[in-house]
This record gives sequence, C-alpha cells and structure tokens, in this order.
Amino acid sequence: MSGVVIERVAFIGGGAMAEAMIRGLLGKEIVGRAQIIASDPLVERRTWLEGQYGVNTTSDNTEAARDATVVILAVKPQQMGEVLTGLRGRLAAPQLVLSIAAGVKIRTIAEGLEHDRVVRVMPNTPAQVGAGMSVWTATDAVGAMEREIAQSILRSFGRELYVQDEAYLDMATAVNGSGPGFIFLFLEAMIDAAVHIGLSRGMAEELVLQTAFGSVLMARETGRHLAELRNAVTSPAGTTAEGLYVLEEGRLRAVVDRAIAAAYERSKALGKL
Ligand SMILES: NC(=O)c1ccc[n+]([C@@H]2O[C@H](COP(=O)([O-])OP(=O)(O)OC[C@H]3O[C@@H](n4cnc5c(N)ncnc54)[C@H](OP(=O)(O)O)[C@@H]3O)[C@@H](O)[C@H]2O)c1
Repeated sequence: MSGVVIERVAFIGGGAMAEAMIRGLLGKEIVGRAQIIASDPLVERRTWLEGQYGVNTTSDNTEAARDATVVILAVKPQQMGEVLTGLRGRLAAPQLVLSIAAGVKIRTIAEGLEHDRVVRVMPNTPAQVGAGMSVWTATDAVGAMEREIAQSILRSFGRELYVQDEAYLDMATAVNGSGPGFIFLFLEAMIDAAVHIGLSRGMAEELVLQTAFGSVLMARETGRHLAELRNAVTSPAGTTAEGLYVLEEGRLRAVVDRAIAAAYERSKALGKL
C-alpha cells in the first residue's frame, strides 16, 4: 500500500454507495472509524451508520467537510445542486473532493464549489462486496499525492482505472455502471432456463452463479482470448455448439451492442440535464 496519509474522510450523503465505501475503507484499514464522518439528512441513516460502523455522523454538510482531507460527494445527481451551493467557498484549497454522482461533470462540481481539486468517479454496485470497478478522472489541480489518495480509496472496494479524458466516464457508465444490471439479467435468464428443463431453483442458482464466477476467473487468470476459451468448450457436434448456434441465431451480440449503445446515449443525455 502507498504511503499516503489520509487524516479524515467526509461523506456528503450516507446512502448505499457511501456505506460500501466506508466498509472498504475500514476493512482495508485505510483509515480508522474515528477518521470518518458521514453527513445525511435522515436520522435513521445516521443511527445505522454509527451503530454498524462506529463512524461519526452529522446532518450538517459544512461541519462534515471541515478539516477533511477528502470530501466524498455521494448524493444522487438530482441532490447535487443543493449540496454544491451549501458547500460553495467553504473548502480549503488543499482539500480533495471526490464525486461519485453519475453524469455530473467535473466542471459543474469545480464551478459549483469554487474549488479546483476535484476527482470524478464512476463506481459500480459490486463495491458493496469489495469487487467494484471504478473509472475516474481528475482536474489538473489534483497533484500526484492526491491521485494516490484517490487510488487508495478506490482500491479499498475493488479495482480502479484512471482516464485522462472525462468523455470515457460516460462510456464507463454504460459498461461498468450499468453492467451489473445487464449481467444479472443474463444470469437470471440462465437460471430460469435451467428450471425450465427440470433443475430445482436452488440447484440452478448454484450452478449458474459458480459457472459465471469460474468463467470470469478463468478468463482473467489465463489471459487467453475469450473466443479461444469458448472454442475449447465447443466440441464438434456437441452440446455447447448446439446452444451457441441458438444464441447467435437470436442475435445475442447485436442485442448486447444495442443495449450498451443505448445506455451510453442515455448517460450522455442525463449529463446534459
Ligand atoms: N448505486 C449505483 O449503482 C451507483 C453506481 C455508480 C454511481 N452511483 C452514484 O452514487 C451516488 C449515490 O448513490 P446511492 O445509490 O448511494 O444513493 P442513495 O442511497 O440515495 O444515497 C444518497 C444519500 O444522500 C442523502 N442526501 C440527500 N440529500 C442530501 C443533502 N443535501 N446533503 C447530504 N446528504 C443528502 C440521501 O438522503 P435521503 O434518502 O433522505 O434523500 C441518501 O441517504 C449517486 O450520485 C449515484 O449516481 C451509484
């Protein structure tokens, strides 16, 4: 782990993604409980986060952000305007702001806060189990040390990938952001189909989830091309060949291509609102 020092982390918004990040930070011992503060308007959320993780909470965003090394904006995009207005001009120059709000441009955040050290991240929900994929970018004012801080935070709940051009974040939204939704639908379809041919639901779930998990691990660990791995399981006139023919006939690749392109268009449109 890098030698960066993070004194205090403030979460503005203590919802599902903030909770996943808090779990990662504590689990990987990036910071201790006393170094985390989360701000949320809902008393039930604050009580939950205090009880479950022993972190500090407040309903006052300015109080949370005060003296924080990193201020993480973890509210919904539609709540961002109000949050930026409330914190405008109140951050000290060295503080690092990290936003996870989908579609909210880095310039909107920097101008809204009148603050130039901003990192924008597109994470995804597997962060909740420490297996997230975060794509991120930063303003020019974010120096090498702050980039390391951002990396160590993002690595506490999964993998991270830095991109220089913010345009890649809209594409990432359609791939790693929405991706879990697409993959869950495919897995659900496989489970339902397994039940259709006679497996119990419990057995179908176990078979499908472990097959998906093992296939991803195999692709990652062997580093072999996916087509090569697919060919290796496709014997002449065999069962896999029969099933693959039906998937290709049903235009699986074209449907996936259209789904990702549609999500990308939607992500760009939402970013313009
Ligand atoms: N979930 C995902 O898959 C995912 C993936 C990538 C990025 N993101 C982004 O992550 C962000 C958070 O998503 P989430 O799923 O964690 O949402 P969430 O569970 O709704 O969390 C947002 C929290 O912020 C609180 N809040 C609302 N207004 C506030 C204010 N003015 N000041 C402080 N806190 C306020 C909300 O309280 P109330 O409930 O009272 O409104 C809620 O507890 C979103 O911008 C989303 O685009 C999410």
